[in-house]
Amino acid sequence: MRILVIHGPNLNLLGEREPGIYGTENLEQVNGAILARAKELGAQCEVFQSNHEGDIIDRLHEARREFDGVVLNAGAYTHYSYAIRDAIAAIRIPCVEVHISNVHAREEFRHTSVIAPACLGVVCGFGGDSYLLALEGLVRRLS
Ligand code: DQA
Repeated sequence: MRILVIHGPNLNLLGEREPGIYGTENLEQVNGAILARAKELGAQCEVFQSNHEGDIIDRLHEARREFDGVVLNAGAYTHYSYAIRDAIAAIRIPCVEVHISNVHAREEFRHTSVIAPACLGVVCGFGGDSYLLALEGLVRRLS
């Protein structure tokens, strides 16, 4: 089973970016935990980060031939990118929406996800563990 994990804009700054909200682990550490859990689950996993909407869309398109599922933290694009929503719907492999923070306990604009209706499920609020829970849920669904 092959899973692609995508980190969207500003997640390259994890660890230094608003640590009170996003924690002190950097992206490399979060990715290390993701790859370790994937191995335990018997899944092949690749990670990708981009600050650019079009690059995320291109990676989603490529993923449809290379992967069985996607775990996606689209960052702020979650709240307004119909283009990413359409890409998720187009590729027809399951995608799980992830957030490190509990977006529902934050500003009003973060309460809306335009990508959630195209996703299999949503995990938010567990810090870096949100990725691990999403990965586990996706692997179970695909098994
Ligand atoms: C985030 C939540 C988004 O609202 C925000 O724009 C991010 C990170 C999260 O992981 O908690 O960039 O997706």
